[in-house]
Amino acid sequence: MPDTFVIAIDGPAASGKSSVSKVLARRLHCAHVNSGALYRAATWGILQAGADPADPDAAVAALRALHLDCRPSGSSFTILVNGVDPGEQLREPAVASRVSTLASVPEVREILTALLRSLADGRSLIMEGRDIGSVVFPETPYKFYIDASEDVRLSRRRAQGEVDSLVSRDQQDSTRKTAPLKVAAEAHVIDTTALALEQVVAAVLATLQRRGLVVEAPEA
Ligand code: CDP
Repeated sequence: MPDTFVIAIDGPAASGKSSVSKVLARRLHCAHVNSGALYRAATWGILQAGADPADPDAAVAALRALHLDCRPSGSSFTILVNGVDPGEQLREPAVASRVSTLASVPEVREILTALLRSLADGRSLIMEGRDIGSVVFPETPYKFYIDASEDVRLSRRRAQGEVDSLVSRDQQDSTRKTAPLKVAAEAHVIDTTALALEQVVAAVLATLQRRGLVVEAPEA
């Protein structure tokens, strides 16, 4: 077993990545990073600075002027934007409707990818997102693509009480030129449409074991 490892979990919006990642982080005693929260935090910070996330030059300039900090907090990270934790504001429609436009800008991805990679220095991580297995950590042998039907994903998001531009985000995320959402080479694809969380976790753990990561027996 390597000293540290990265498990990449990609997939479209509301496919269940966060739930699976959180359970896995507990089981494997490692940290969990939601890279989407960093893209949302960047969008929020740019809006707070009065810049337009849809204007690439202005958005990149505003992003470079922001201080983005990912602080370890329990088994996860708190993202601070100029020292402020935006919390639930990251889930608001003002952010959700703009984040994919910002995420299509190559310089934005370069800045945030460097920050995400730095989080793996000296620690094991489960990182969820759109391009973790394809771009951020292409070398990791532990890659998953978590999918579910659009209907199921829409109803999961509604059940969270969130107004979300999920369909148009998915469209933007999978058609952008830089680091589009796609199944990374060697990723294990899991369709969670008809699966319970525990079944998804079991499928991931089985693959991790097959790929050489020693995983403790499931909790009784
Ligand atoms: O929670 P949900 O799956 O709906 O979205 P998220 O993970 O919070 O990601 C929000 C947005 O950030 C995505 O729709 C992408 O536009 C962008 N993102 C990205 O481009 N690359 C990543 N690795 C993670 C998120």
